[in-house]
Amino acid sequence: MKMIESHLQEHRIFLPPSEFSSVAAVRGMDAYHALCEEAERDYEGFWARHAHELLHWHKPFTKVLDESNAPFYTWFEDGELNASYNCLDRNLQNGNADKVAIVFEADDGTVTRFTYRELHARVCRFANGLKTRGIKKGDRVVIYMPMSVECVVAMQACARLGATHSVVFGGFSAKSLHERITDVGAVALITADEQMRGGKALSLKAIADDALALGGCEAVENVIVYCRTGGNVGWTEGRDHWMQDLCANQPDTCEAEPVSAEHPLFVLYTSGSTGKPKGVQHSTGGYLLWARMTMKWTFDIKPDDIFWCTADIGWVTGHTYIAYGPLAAGATQVLFEGIPTYPDAGRFWDMIARHKVNIFYTAPTAIRALIKAAEADENIHPKQYDLSSLRLLGTAGEPINPEAWMWYHTNVGGGRCPVADTFWQTETGGHMIAPLPGATSLVPGSCTLPLPGIMAAIVDETGQEVPHGNGGILVIKRPWPSMIRTIWGDPARFKKSYFPEELGGKLYLAGDGSIRDKDTAYFTIMGRIDDVLNVSGHRMGTMEIESALVSNPLVAEAAVVGRPDDTTGEAICAFVVLKRARPEGDESHRIAAELRSWVGREIGPIAKPKEIRFGDNLPKTRSGKIMRRLLRSLAKGEHITQDISTLENPGILEQLSQS
Ligand code: PRX
Repeated sequence: MKMIESHLQEHRIFLPPSEFSSVAAVRGMDAYHALCEEAERDYEGFWARHAHELLHWHKPFTKVLDESNAPFYTWFEDGELNASYNCLDRNLQNGNADKVAIVFEADDGTVTRFTYRELHARVCRFANGLKTRGIKKGDRVVIYMPMSVECVVAMQACARLGATHSVVFGGFSAKSLHERITDVGAVALITADEQMRGGKALSLKAIADDALALGGCEAVENVIVYCRTGGNVGWTEGRDHWMQDLCANQPDTCEAEPVSAEHPLFVLYTSGSTGKPKGVQHSTGGYLLWARMTMKWTFDIKPDDIFWCTADIGWVTGHTYIAYGPLAAGATQVLFEGIPTYPDAGRFWDMIARHKVNIFYTAPTAIRALIKAAEADENIHPKQYDLSSLRLLGTAGEPINPEAWMWYHTNVGGGRCPVADTFWQTETGGHMIAPLPGATSLVPGSCTLPLPGIMAAIVDETGQEVPHGNGGILVIKRPWPSMIRTIWGDPARFKKSYFPEELGGKLYLAGDGSIRDKDTAYFTIMGRIDDVLNVSGHRMGTMEIESALVSNPLVAEAAVVGRPDDTTGEAICAFVVLKRARPEGDESHRIAAELRSWVGREIGPIAKPKEIRFGDNLPKTRSGKIMRRLLRSLAKGEHITQDISTLENPGILEQLSQS
């Protein structure tokens, strides 16, 4: 708790520009407070009103929130709707048929535009194709695809049929993919031959084949392959089908299957404090409602806006703010296949200028990397590009340091665009604490205030609220529509992880430390309080990386901690004890390199430790517990001044402090 209290002193404040406020969805703080009060006064009525206004229901709901089986809350349960119908068909009916839904820019710069009519037809053809392979409501389909329109089509087609998708980030290894396929019980896998990133073709189908060969995937009777590059692929006759062939000759309409609002739209795996990833299960109705509402509130989306979220579709940000939210809002969005540094680190700014992007949403890690690049090379500095189309900026995924915030605000937003620092999680489905850009004054580094209807608070270890100015544990006091419903196949872990008895069993535990400002009541997120790291906005469990390391035959023991990093936010630092003598010199470099690639193969390149230090042992208490706080200090290069009286082997500290 002491650590959480060491917060930043930030006095800069930015009022919402009046040109922005005067036309915003929520104009000024009075309007914000009115919405919050409405939610306080009549919580269910508040949500029901928005659900009626913003979604199309095949069968209207009569119940709003059911708390009888807490914490397994349900929302709008007897209502029926279809997410794909809400994202596509509604746009054909309301005059958006010929509006561009997606501006796709490939890695090599080729641009393709898809109208709502075209997107609808593609989704219908693919849904019909999936039907011919026997895929139906209730089935689980794993999607392992590049950033592509085809990936959105695959997700929407599943939603259309009532099949639950589980997208696995294209950077994960065969083993990680296999773990997710078997855990979710998939009957089909949708992938691509290869993905293009930074001018290079990287295989996906080969990794998918390896994953399926690991065994236990017999239920996967169909592998559907989008032909992206035409690269060589292995082929299993009868099981494998080209996506293009499956869609050929299919009708371009397909009835959307109405499902209960509680029907699982998707399961998305994320890291927790144990070695096993958690399959976060989301609903259809509540999830889609919040995706739609936050497009309106946080992004203030307008009919003529060009919206661009740079997140990968394999993470929740790509689900809510690419595959569902913008389409449900009838918006035009940019979808980018490549990476921000190819062909050079001016790619984002060049794309904003060319596509006249109005709302730009990216991650602090990308901003920090692009600051460095712009400082090193004037030619790719944002000031070299015409960014005058921008009216709103956003960030998500990790704390943004005030200096990066200021650079983004000044150099990208030209000092005129509000910056929405949005705090949320895979589990929350959409933004939780974020400014309303036409209402909230901004303080760099703070995600400001909870959105209306979100009852966020900061409590101590017993669940008691702490006064503003004191650090504590971030919780949400009431269920909200887009919250996680359960952990797939593990309801007991859901309850224990998110509604712990220690806090009274009723508060949703986000897993982050936070502090509220004494004067403004603004929230600042101080980072995770559990063993979860945030590396470049990717959530990684230290236990997952430790298990990967100890599965290497050379390794006896490993402990993984995070240390602050200028670009990636946190960096992974591993302390490793080998089964053989502690390596030194060249041998230590060689084994470190071998272990890094091992972790890359076990989990994926994002989990490779930045630094590996070898020791004869790890710092442990007399009862054998690894003292991680000491490892964290060592990783930061700090001199140990903490109490080490419980340490069994103090001599080890000196050895491990030498990297
Ligand atoms: O620690 C918080 C951090 O990212 C975690 C959630 O990661 P994930 O489930 O991958 O969801 C990403 C969706 C944005 C949180 O527990 N985090 C996310 N947004 C912020 C943040 N930390 C500080 N500020 C944020 N805006």
